[in-house]
Amino acid sequence: MIVPAAGRGERLGPGAPKAMRSLGGVPMLVHAVRALASARAVDLVVVAAPEDGVDDVTALLAEHGLVDSAPGRAGALVVAGGDTRQESVARALNSLPADVDVVLVHDAARPLVPVSLVDAVAAAVRGGADAVVPGLPVADTIKSVDAADVVSATLDRGALRAIQTPQGFRRATLAEAHAAADPDAPATDDADLVERLGGKVVVVPGDEEAFKVTRPLDLVLAEAVLARRRAAGVVA
Ligand code: CTP
Ligand code: MG
Repeated sequence: MIVPAAGRGERLGPGAPKAMRSLGGVPMLVHAVRALASARAVDLVVVAAPEDGVDDVTALLAEHGLVDSAPGRAGALVVAGGDTRQESVARALNSLPADVDVVLVHDAARPLVPVSLVDAVAAAVRGGADAVVPGLPVADTIKSVDAADVVSATLDRGALRAIQTPQGFRRATLAEAHAAADPDAPATDDADLVERLGGKVVVVPGDEEAFKVTRPLDLVLAEAVLARRRAAGVVA
């Protein structure tokens, strides 16, 4: 399992790097790693941290008991990320042990991902797919525009999916896709790199709670979801 967590979170506004922002009193990254590490399908979590933050992130995860593996929970290790998400994933991929043959990639910015979604994506890869992404139907009407913001087309909403993470891959597929990737045209997700090579990417049902915290309002929603889980006794 790879967790890109080296972004600055510019769209969230001024403050700490996004993965370090608090959600219910705990950094988002801790929520994400805790969920991923407790998935049955996951043996190891490799976090790509901001380059100058590797020691701090390692200490943070250790403080929450997430570095060493425990019964029913995978351990985590931290590597330096890069200037783009693509580069951060590539660096983490290079540090995976040789015996790993299925790799999941999950954004730290999706801290409330349900464990069931992690296991479903892993199961689809183990079931024979080379590349698997969770997707949800799109609620808004999506239009493409030209450089002057004039509408050029209305896309058929029924054929669109909003794609989430975790995305799952045969390791060889993901490694080949990253080896062929263009650093000057970085992809915003890993499946795009597989698509560029003509690979088949399968969509499985996503989960609304795997939403990405991007803008300030997303943090309000995340706090509300977490409060609801806590009230229901789902999380500590
Ligand atoms: N990411 C990363 N390395 C980068 C850029 C992004 O590991 N150089 C990670 C982010 O930490 C996040 C995930 O990729 O977990 C998805 O990226 P995004 O939501 O765009 O996060 P940021 O890049 O941090 O946000 P922004 O684009 O608003 O600055
Ligand atoms: Mg970004």
